[in-house]
Amino acid sequence: ARITLRQLLDHAAANEYGVPAFNISNMEQGLAIMAAADATDAPVILQMSRGARAYANDLILSKLLDGLTELYPHIPVCVHLDHGNNVATCVTAIQHGFTSVMMDGSLKEDGSTPADYAYNAAITRRVVEIAHAAGVSVEGELGVLGSLETGMGDQEDGHGATEKLSHDQLLTDPDEAERFVADTGVDALAVAMGTSHGAYKFTREPDGEVLAMDVIEAIHKRLPDTHLVMHGSSSVPQDLCEIINTHGGEIRPTWGVPMEEIRRGIRHGVRKVNIDTDIRLAITAAIRTTLGETPGEFDPRKYMGPAMKAVTQLCTEKFEAFGTAGNA
Ligand code: G3H
Ligand code: 13P
Ligand code: ZN
Repeated sequence: ARITLRQLLDHAAANEYGVPAFNISNMEQGLAIMAAADATDAPVILQMSRGARAYANDLILSKLLDGLTELYPHIPVCVHLDHGNNVATCVTAIQHGFTSVMMDGSLKEDGSTPADYAYNAAITRRVVEIAHAAGVSVEGELGVLGSLETGMGDQEDGHGATEKLSHDQLLTDPDEAERFVADTGVDALAVAMGTSHGAYKFTREPDGEVLAMDVIEAIHKRLPDTHLVMHGSSSVPQDLCEIINTHGGEIRPTWGVPMEEIRRGIRHGVRKVNIDTDIRLAITAAIRTTLGETPGEFDPRKYMGPAMKAVTQLCTEKFEAFGTAGNA
């Protein structure tokens, strides 16, 4: 059944687990993720970005989500808008049956410039008023995602701040977080604590703590009842990068967020863990392998099938690692 983010994360908080929020933009991803949720008896968040909506069409996506939830009536599914950039994107998502929306006012509407507190709080408050009137949950974001190594925003995958950011902008301030939740009434809060979007997060193999876990812990202490969200939480599996590269791909050396730090976050109030890149890598590795090993193949089902299997396996591992398994 379709449930709101608030319903799902309240259950996750009461039972101390995290929920992966997987990005989808097509049927294969949806089917493969749901197969993993079913196999592990896990609730799930399926989220779509503005780019995914433009790619797949709102009408097709909403019918796809109807099909996926009907196919697995026993699995709680939250249908969420990832990174809404204005009131209209959030409202049209609600019109298409989304049960949760993210209003990301940490950046201005064009997505490349950090916004000030007043803008972020006002637009997020407005979305909360509208969404809550419709029984829909809201995620806000405070702090700008980007690399603590370089101070640069997430330009790698085409969105994020394009200017050099200060350490202060890259780490959510716990006092400001408390004020933001009081000012806006959001159900969940995405925080900046050293993660960034895309495949290129860290240039060296993580040796000890790579995220600002003290920031998460301080925010959770101030806001014990606010569900925290970690964006940019792909682990960028080395084996997938290697498979892609041995089959003609060109992924530069890169590392993602260690699973252990995500699990630590979950012990300190992180309830929603956003994952897109790992799914993209799993699909690409499977397709490159199939096409590389059987170059005569041209039936899309012959390479999309293995890609779906790879996504199901990856998602199964996340459901188990985050403690989501068994909580449907
Ligand atoms: O926030 C980033 C997600 O990975 C979605 O990416 O905007 O390319 O669909 P996208
Ligand atoms: P990754 O790029 O690490 O998968 O993060 C996805 C994300 O945060 C979507 O909002
Ligand atoms: Zn994100």
